[in-house]
Amino acid sequence: MTEPLFLILDEGTTSTRAMLFNAAGVPRGTAQRELNQHYPRPGWVEHDAGEIWDRTLACAQEMVAAASGPDRIACIGVTNQRETVVAWDRNSGEPLARAIVWQDRRTAGFCGDLRAGGHEAAVRDATGLLLDPYFSATKMRWLLDNDDAVRGAAQRGTLAFGTIDAWLTFKLTGNLLTEAGNASRTLLLPLAGESWDEGLCELFGVPTAALPRVTDSAGDFGTSSLFGAPIPVTGIAGDQQAATIGQGCNSPGETKATFGTGAFVLANMGAEVPRSEHRLLGTVLHQLGGKRHYALEGSVFVAGSLFQWLRDSLNMIVTAAESDELARSVPDSAGVVVIPALSGLGAPHWRADARAAITGLSFAATRAHVVRAALEAISHQTQDLAAAFAADGAAWTSLKIDGGMSANNWLAQDLAGLLQVPVVRPDFVETTALGAAMLAAVGAGLHHSLESAAAAMIVSGERFEPAMDEGVRSTRLANWRAALARL
Ligand code: G3P
Repeated sequence: MTEPLFLILDEGTTSTRAMLFNAAGVPRGTAQRELNQHYPRPGWVEHDAGEIWDRTLACAQEMVAAASGPDRIACIGVTNQRETVVAWDRNSGEPLARAIVWQDRRTAGFCGDLRAGGHEAAVRDATGLLLDPYFSATKMRWLLDNDDAVRGAAQRGTLAFGTIDAWLTFKLTGNLLTEAGNASRTLLLPLAGESWDEGLCELFGVPTAALPRVTDSAGDFGTSSLFGAPIPVTGIAGDQQAATIGQGCNSPGETKATFGTGAFVLANMGAEVPRSEHRLLGTVLHQLGGKRHYALEGSVFVAGSLFQWLRDSLNMIVTAAESDELARSVPDSAGVVVIPALSGLGAPHWRADARAAITGLSFAATRAHVVRAALEAISHQTQDLAAAFAADGAAWTSLKIDGGMSANNWLAQDLAGLLQVPVVRPDFVETTALGAAMLAAVGAGLHHSLESAAAAMIVSGERFEPAMDEGVRSTRLANWRAALARL
């Protein structure tokens, strides 16, 4: 008998992919397409939502062909870059403007005004988030204020505003819905509330009528007829939530860090709404059968994108993987510190205005020292999060890592040393897609819980034990703090 397969659409910031998994979590195929990044002004980042859909669909069609047709595919799972806002017309199904990407800082002024107006505490208490341009609501408001097509659709009552999960689900099934974890990144969904909050929608000036219905993370999201036979969509999650699930962080306290475009640390906090006193975020991890599980999150905006920038804009490396070799070629960074605030600083600093810096340069500094300092910066940003999690009472006893950069062995070892906890990397690092496959399997009724899906689909990993000299560690921490203070 031929095995049933799950088709997972993993729509990230720089590329979109489709992957096939079998019921044991073994990948059976991958198709990937790059996405064009548009930077119309400093601090602005846009995507073409039509291109996102076209390329995602092309990848999916490639995988349906690889599976020898739609009948082999049991269900579809969707996982996506979060917070990015798409505005489309629900009648034509076409985008009305470029999507504003999570990295975009154009609404920093509006966020500052709201903060000055004394709104941050109430917003944080309700949503778990802060007043930062990262989140969706101020991007929606910007589109309404600045784009005639978006405003016109709002006046006609045909506007749909959604995060990427809502956009892809709409294109796949025709249904207008958004998954609770994604919805919890908008500033419009209270962590403890079932649906959009009228007061928050009013504060940000976003019409509730334009927003999709908030749903569970697994279940019946509709059926796609685009592949020659109907295939149900049964699992949806933002990429960081999906990676947390794909790492098997199903019990409170279990923590993962994904090193992709940015670095995102999520700790499972169980069914209690988390409250951070140290500038971390409270967020919905998943919602199953109407019941939510929450996570505490530290969001760092720049990780892998720093190495893309070193490669593409500074020609300092040829491949991102070369950084491992260069870091090993020198004993230390020769006092060089890289602060990767290329799109401001996220958690726990939240400095939308900050700009990147390379400090401590002398004639002794070489390309290898700068690249090593860039890798060290990834560990330091993670250590800043570790301190905030510990202060919030959620100290890490180990850290599960994944994402493209986790393949870098030098970084994995450096993280273990700086954080002083074992770092564990699964043999299969595509945990985002795997987590979406687990949700899709639960939603299709193939597993009764995420725990049972994890038991069937996760294999073992490699452990990196802390082994950093304490003197080296404290000097590095001091240099990092001094460089941050100079920003
Ligand atoms: O919150 C933004 C995040 O979802 C983007 O993830 O994988 O593109 O770094 P990634």
